[in-house]
Amino acid sequence: MQVQENISLKQYNTFGIDARARYFGKFSTMEALATLLDNSKVPAAFILGGGSNILLTKDIDGLVLKNEVKGIEEVGEDERYIYVEAGAGENWHQFVQYCISRNWAGLENLSLIPGNVGASPMQNIGAYGVEVKEVFNSLTAFHIHDKTIHTFTPGDCAFGYRESVFKRKYRNQFVIMRVCFRLRKDPVFHTGYGAIREELERMGVTTLNIKAIAQAVINIRSSKLPDPAVIGNAGSFFKNPSIEKSTYLKLKEKFPVIVGYDNPDGTVKLAAGWLIEHSGPKVGVSWKGYRVGDTGCHARQALVLVNYGHASGKEIYALSEAIMRSVENKFGVRLEREVNIY
Ligand code: EPU
Repeated sequence: MQVQENISLKQYNTFGIDARARYFGKFSTMEALATLLDNSKVPAAFILGGGSNILLTKDIDGLVLKNEVKGIEEVGEDERYIYVEAGAGENWHQFVQYCISRNWAGLENLSLIPGNVGASPMQNIGAYGVEVKEVFNSLTAFHIHDKTIHTFTPGDCAFGYRESVFKRKYRNQFVIMRVCFRLRKDPVFHTGYGAIREELERMGVTTLNIKAIAQAVINIRSSKLPDPAVIGNAGSFFKNPSIEKSTYLKLKEKFPVIVGYDNPDGTVKLAAGWLIEHSGPKVGVSWKGYRVGDTGCHARQALVLVNYGHASGKEIYALSEAIMRSVENKFGVRLEREVNIY
């Protein structure tokens, strides 16, 4: 694949932002990636996966590489587990469904998350009580500068809440090529999340199974989260912030219905969606459902910022700044963005 020049990235990011890349190339093998890098006049600016966790606020005056490494392969098995490896460029939800159809358990709670397989360890994706680190076995990655291949075990990845070494310390240094997951032959069901239990009940499920859990997750997500194919968005724009328990108790005195969950380390994780819903651009107006031009805060989940059509990345970024300011003014809590800003 040749390097192309002056390419719109609109179709390559789920926010649907029309930023341009000076140079753009796709690769599906390590050799193709090495050739693209060797032939490029400029260094790689960044690697694009499914484009579902990025906000482009400007044109990119460099090389953007699109990861299209494909293939799903069962690479091993023991008494309890199946080891399955997927190309980083495989669509995440299609991969989850592939595993569910074979009765390999562990990914069902992570159904319908937008993006590709390669991003799953990058930001340790999570939903409904499960994070990818719980099913992650290893990954292979290509070092952009040294052109060497590395294997990362769970211990090498420093997984945290929507965090890994690939998002911080090794940002834009490694290209994740393949990810190997360790999936259970006998499922362990994660139905602790209230919404899942309610949805399973509504569906009339009496015997738990991974297909039913996946369907419950799909139903919940589709009812609350906008489909990026219809309204541009990148899922949760902010992280749920953790604060000291003593600070939480003071906030609770002032705002008795504030939503928070105890963390194992004694701190409390606040629902950022609640904080955003209960603040706004002016007194008496909530951010939730608020729209300015083509940018806005989703009406059914305040944590999700949206592009109704022709918003620029700068406009969405400005809205996120305004939200952060008002949440900080009202609750004294500083939100952190989950989405990568370029
Ligand atoms: N809430 C509100 N108003 C809102 C949104 C939420 O008050 O507009 C409160 C509600 O009380 C609700 C609580 O927040 O009970 C939690 O909301 P929800 O279950 O929708 O989950 P979340 O904490 O807002 C997180 C993840 C999502 C993931 C869901 C389900 C983060 C940043 N987000 O959202 O992940 O799907 O839990 O597990 O941790 C993503 O990362 O892109 C993403 C969508």
